[in-house]
Amino acid sequence: MAAREKILMFDSGLGGLTVFREVAAVRPQADYIYVADDAAFPYGALEESALVARVVGLMGELIEAHRPDLIVIPCNTASTIVLPDLRRKFTVRFVGTVPAIKPACAASLTKRVSVFGTEGTVSREYTRALIRDYGQGCDVTLVGSKKLAGYAEEELRGAPASDAAIAAEIAPCFRDDGKRTDTVVLACTHYPLLLDRLRTLSPWPVNFVDPAPAIARRVVDLLGPAPPATDAGTTQAIFTSGRAPQAVLARFGIGAGELVQTAGR
Ligand code: DGL
Repeated sequence: MAAREKILMFDSGLGGLTVFREVAAVRPQADYIYVADDAAFPYGALEESALVARVVGLMGELIEAHRPDLIVIPCNTASTIVLPDLRRKFTVRFVGTVPAIKPACAASLTKRVSVFGTEGTVSREYTRALIRDYGQGCDVTLVGSKKLAGYAEEELRGAPASDAAIAAEIAPCFRDDGKRTDTVVLACTHYPLLLDRLRTLSPWPVNFVDPAPAIARRVVDLLGPAPPATDAGTTQAIFTSGRAPQAVLARFGIGAGELVQTAGR
């Protein structure tokens, strides 16, 4: 019988679940390990060097313990700074998540695009280079939010932020200089968790670009055809705080019986 594929997904918290659900939908027979480094959430507030050291260190332990076939980092804040170090240090294949600037700029009709992510992501040279290389003549506004990833976590845990609080975070994405912003890149995997509210609170309709389907396609491209398997894969969740939110995970199809509670670190 062919060996089962093991895919490890790593985010700072619950945001990566928006990518997990897409990947698991196209690769249902794989075994998944969802890792949330929630002890260090939010990553957006960490210094670059501290973030690199933390993620590289944790990844070494996770690879040693779980021997995954592929690692997905559904986190823009980590991917835009840590991927080169991870690829240098470890031989396992990585799929990162970086702001979807190229497809967003290609699709914009008004040529007014906003890139909405954590303060870390929008300040990175990596993100600026994507705009230089793939901006396609668009006027691109970088909007860093200190709070929205936290609001997304709170929403999932049943304590939603107010409309006014969310509206204040997205307001800078909407520019009107005679031509209005028509495309907003969701450059933080937490933000699609709030998509309905973002749509409702937008001053005018825009196209929100969620990278999750593209990441799922990349995973399938890298892994190739799925090995024959008759039963669905399993999913474990690891939360570095030691406190996995079981009710939330159940909504994403991760069963309580499969949780691994790690000691806080
Ligand atoms: N979900 C993450 C991202 O895609 C980071 C949120 C945070 O930890 O600040 O950037």
